This record gives sequence, structure tokens and C-alpha cells, in this order.
Amino acid sequence: MFKYLICLALVFGATRIVAQDIQWEEVAPGVWKGTIGKPESYNLLTASGAKPYAEGLKNMGDVVFPLIKAEITGKLVDGKTYLRFPLDKKEQVYGFGLNFQTVHQRGKILQLHVDHYGGKDNGRTHAPTPFYVSSNGYGVFINSARYLNVYAGSAVKRDGENVPEAKDRNTDKSWSSRPYSDGVEILVPAEGVEFYVFAGPKPLDAVRRYNLFNGGGVLPPRWGLGFTQRVKTLYTAKDVADEAKAFEDKGFPLDFIGLEPGWQSRAYPCTFEWDAKRYPEPGKFVKEMLDKGIRLNLWTNPYVSPEAGIYKSIKPYTADHTVWVGAVPDLTMPEARDILFGQLKRGQVDLGVSGYKFDEVDGYDHYLWPDVTIFPSGKSAEQVRQTYGLLIQRYSADLFRERNQRTYGLVRASNGSGSALPYVIYNDYYNHEDFITALINSSFSGVLWTPEARASKTGEEWLRRMQSVVFSPMAMINAWSSGTKPWSYPEVEKQVRDMAILRMKMMPYWYSEFAKYRFQGIPPFRAMNLEDGYQSDLKKEVKSTNLEDNPYVEAVSKEVKDQYMAGEYLLVAPMFTGKTSRTVILPKGKWFDFYTGAYAGDGEIITVTPGLDKIPVYVKDGGIIPMGPALMHAPKPSEKLDLEIRYYGSKPGRYMLYDDDGETFNYESGAFSFREINISKTASGQLKTTVSAAQKGKPNTINKITFKAMTK
Ligand code: GAL
Repeated sequence: MFKYLICLALVFGATRIVAQDIQWEEVAPGVWKGTIGKPESYNLLTASGAKPYAEGLKNMGDVVFPLIKAEITGKLVDGKTYLRFPLDKKEQVYGFGLNFQTVHQRGKILQLHVDHYGGKDNGRTHAPTPFYVSSNGYGVFINSARYLNVYAGSAVKRDGENVPEAKDRNTDKSWSSRPYSDGVEILVPAEGVEFYVFAGPKPLDAVRRYNLFNGGGVLPPRWGLGFTQRVKTLYTAKDVADEAKAFEDKGFPLDFIGLEPGWQSRAYPCTFEWDAKRYPEPGKFVKEMLDKGIRLNLWTNPYVSPEAGIYKSIKPYTADHTVWVGAVPDLTMPEARDILFGQLKRGQVDLGVSGYKFDEVDGYDHYLWPDVTIFPSGKSAEQVRQTYGLLIQRYSADLFRERNQRTYGLVRASNGSGSALPYVIYNDYYNHEDFITALINSSFSGVLWTPEARASKTGEEWLRRMQSVVFSPMAMINAWSSGTKPWSYPEVEKQVRDMAILRMKMMPYWYSEFAKYRFQGIPPFRAMNLEDGYQSDLKKEVKSTNLEDNPYVEAVSKEVKDQYMAGEYLLVAPMFTGKTSRTVILPKGKWFDFYTGAYAGDGEIITVTPGLDKIPVYVKDGGIIPMGPALMHAPKPSEKLDLEIRYYGSKPGRYMLYDDDGETFNYESGAFSFREINISKTASGQLKTTVSAAQKGKPNTINKITFKAMTK
């Protein structure tokens, strides 16, 4: 009867404090579940529906528990759960969701709460994933669909293990308003919770286990990695066709076009029905676009207009508060889902639409449903808010899965356990530097992020933004309001085209890197902190004199927010408008210029002046980058392509090149291959190359292969 051993029960006034034993279970190699009290049955894992990718976890092998179990503690206090995890003196923590301005989270106080990012890293963001990764090589995930208060090394316990000395502020200059703390503490507003500890040994291993535990990362269809343009909101079918033609005429690649609110007969709230004037024959229109090799992605928010055909039937399954006077479907209820997604299926997916952009499922508070909203399922407004993004991704993705067709769309909210959901996060904020920091942080949160380009004040800014977009999970222009085209700034049109073409040529690399996300949990776009040989120590520290500053200011001043890893071998260091040079931290080992193959440095900080045409990109020694032809659309399922395999430096290199049909889920039943490429250099500088043979009965889209030694 007493499942949980009660060690200590104290009653102070009306507050009941019960220290709890944690029940531990190893649920997969290197993944432990800790349970305390009575966890709620509705949580992030139940909302996402994620199932561990067992084979991937098994391949990572067995490891020992990465912490001392006795140092992880929990209490039930006044109907809430207090969790505490230890921190070492030198330890840094990363993660806690999609932050935009900081990478190092130690010393932070956050309330993890799904919201539109408001300009501060305070926990309110599009994916406030309750997962953190330690520089010591482990990760912790709190599986709760609640707003969580996180004290990430900010609080000092009276009788703790490492209590810092109390100092006299009057006389002691070293006094700090924020003394050293040796724990991450988390308040979960529920009488129990389950949480997971992921072993390393390296921080990247903990991230990989987290992603694999949540189903493995997203493998987009090949076309999803091509170029996408979102058109002005009131475009008509003819305008869209003309836009596609303009891309073709001007020699810009294009794989999918995004239609914004105007495709619907009413929006904000929505009808989910085509506007009869702008799109009189939607079936014909979608088909004609597909025939030209252009897929369509449709914007929508989920709020149902009283004018919508589905309004009456869905109303009983909607909340008692509205968003823009539209009904809010309770997506935790199958009845609501059947009606909403049934409409999307009949109205659009069955016509050949390839994906969606689910908008406004994140916040802001002034338009979203308030926390006093009643949902018919009985789930609280808080639980629905924390999981709405997960639910809409999961069930919309099912519409495509049923057709054995992959999708790749956009969403403005997600949360923990969303690694496998085929969506990329975007928002309305528009700071290029912060967009790069978000890209870095996405790798700690099991989400993908696009630094979309919308418009710019100058050609220079446009080019700089487009350069970053090309080295990101979704190469997108979002011109819903501006109408900007890739060629809108004639002075940089050529450079923008070159970048777009580079994106297409790199398709074999991008696709293989996403396959590694899917099968090995390795985020394709990653923080430097996850890279071997990376030393943040190289960065000069800035000593703060402000007493209110974070005591970890030294570590914070060393955080790197403006460069990242793209796939196995590339380091990307974006340029921001107005800057002609920048510094780049190269991890230990030799690095080479991506464009020329020239030696760039080894474990050092370099200063580069790349000119306007280039975004600085560096390749690891022995790096192998498979390049395809400059296609205008992603290749068709069995289209065979020539490959040019570029090789950098002189160290023997190995690359696993992924192949499948690029569109279906047949890879899940074995219809895929990884072909091994090995390259080394002989003493006389000759390349020795091998490529494993195509396996019989497996997809093979590779035609002729040539090799190119980039480093002379
Ligand atoms: C915003 C969204 C934009 C665009 C716009 C259309 O909420 O973030 O990307 O889609 O809606 O009204």
C-alpha cells in the first residue's frame, strides 16, 4: 500500500512537508526514470506520444548512472514537488528551452512557460523544454506539463554541503549579492512528478539519449531541405503560380511555397476553408503546382471561426474562453481532433497539400486563453498551454503518416519530448544575432529553429540574413507582409542566388546529417559546447563590477552565442550587418576554409574578414562533404545524381552517406542505406578513396562519384 517510503513528515502550521524517496528505474541503456509522489498522468511524453527509439539507445551502449543518486532529492510540500539536483563548482548548465540571448544557464531563475519570446531569457519561450545538459556530461528532463520554476544554481541552503562563507558587505569588497550555489532546484506544481536522467559520458551523448528516448530526431523529406518562400497574405492562385515562374525564370531554387492567412475564407479566427475568390479551384491549383515541382504549405492557427463549417460540430469540444472570438479546440480530446484534422484532411491534405504552419499556439498572454479557462476534457488551461504545440504537431503529422508521406512544417510552440515531430519553430521577433543564439540553443531542446529572413533595411543585411538561413534547418523567406523576394535587393542578387544554390548542392550532406539526427539523436545544428576539442577558456573573460550580476559572470562572459556546428564537419560563424570582421573560436584540431580548403587554424581564436560574399565556414581536418548538382528542386525519389565528394585537410576521414526514397516512411522498415566513404592522403599527396558498394535491394540514388581534394 505504501508504495513510496516516507522518510520524514513534518507539519508546520498547515504546510505539510514530506521528504520522499525517489523510485529509480533504468528504462533504457543510459536512461533512468526517477519517480516521486504521485505523478500526474498527463505529461509531456503523453502529449507528444513519443516512443523511445530503442535500437538507437541500445547502440549507444550501457553506462553507469552519471550522478550520485543520494544527492538528488525531492520533497512534497503543500501539494507541490520540490526537486534538487547537485552542481559541481566548475559545472555549467545548458538548455532549459529555446533561449535567444544566453547559452550558459547556471545562475538563472526561470519559469518555464510556453509563450512568444518577449526579448528576455526568463523561461517564457516557444519551447520551454524542461531539459538541461551539464558540461559534466549528463542531462535531466522533468516530464511535466506544468509551468515549472527553475533555480538553476541560484539558491543557497542553510545546511548544504558547500555553503559559501557569509561576508560583510560593509567592509568586504568580495561580497556578492548572489553567492555560490551548488544545486539546480525545480518547483513542480503537482503532488509528484517523474523525471529522467540521461547519461553521457559527453554532453552530446546526453543530448543524443534525450532525442533517441523521444523517438529520434526528425528526418524531413528531401524537399523540406530545399528552398521555401512564403508569399504575401492576400496572394491569389495566379499570384502564386507567377511567383513560382519568377523563381524559375531568375534561376532561384524553390521546393515549397507557403500560403499565409489569405488562402482561407476568413482568418483570425479561421474557417480552414479555401477562399473561393482567391482560390476558386483549389484541387486543380495544388495539382498544377505539384506538376511544376512546387509543394504547398498552409498557414493556419487553430482558432475556429463561428463562420467555419466545422464550428457547430466542434463547439462542444472547445474551451469556455476564445482566441480572437474563435473557439479553442480541446486537442486533448479525440472528438475535437477528429473534427479539426478531419477538415484539414478533406479540405487540403487530400488535395495534395504537403504541410502546415501552425501559428499562435504559443502566446502572447493578451490574446491566448487565460489560465482561468475551462477545457471540456478537464485538463487545466496551464496543461493545455504547455502542450498545445506538441499536440498540434503530433496529430497533424499523423495526417501525412497515414498516407506514408513525410511532411516538414512550421510551428510556433513546442515543448519537451518533441524531438521526433517534423516541425521547425519560428517567431515574430527579428534579431539576427539572437536568431543564431536560438539556433545554438535548439540543440539542447530537441527542437529545430529557423532564422527566417523577412525583409531588411539594406542589401547587406539581406545578404547576411540569407547566408544564415542557408545554414539552418529550413531555408526560408517569410514574405507574408513584406512581399520580399530573394532578388529584392539587386546589389546582392547574385550573392543570394549563389547561397541558395549552395544550399541545394549541399543536399546530400544536409540529408545525411538529418538521418544522423533520426538514427543517432545528433542535432544537425549544434552548440559549440557539444563539440569535442572546443575550449570556451580561450575567450577572454570580462570581470564584472556590478554586484547584481550573475556570480557566474566569468562563465557567462565566455559563452559563445554566435557560431555553431552544422552537421558532422562544419563550423559556421555568421556575419551580422555592419560588421566587416569577426573572431571565430576554432576547437582543437586543424580547421580549413570551406570555400578554398586553405588552413585556418587549430585550437585558437582567429579574426576573419570574409567580404560580403561569404559567410565564414570551416571544416574539420579529414572532413568529407558530399555535394550534388545545382538542382532547382529536390531530387525525385529514384532520381540518380552525380556526387562530388570534397575532402579537407590531411587526416583520414570517414563519412556515412545516407540514402532512401526521400519522401516516405519506408526507411522505418529498412528501406535505407548508409554508404561508407573513406578518404586518406598518401605521403605524395594522392587521395586514396573507397565507397562501400550499394546494397542490393536498398535505395540507391547515387550515380557517378568524383573526389576533390580541397586542401592543396
Ligand atoms: C504571424 C506569424 C507570421 C505570419 C503572420 C500572418 O503570427 O508569426 O509569420 O504568418 O502571422 O498573419
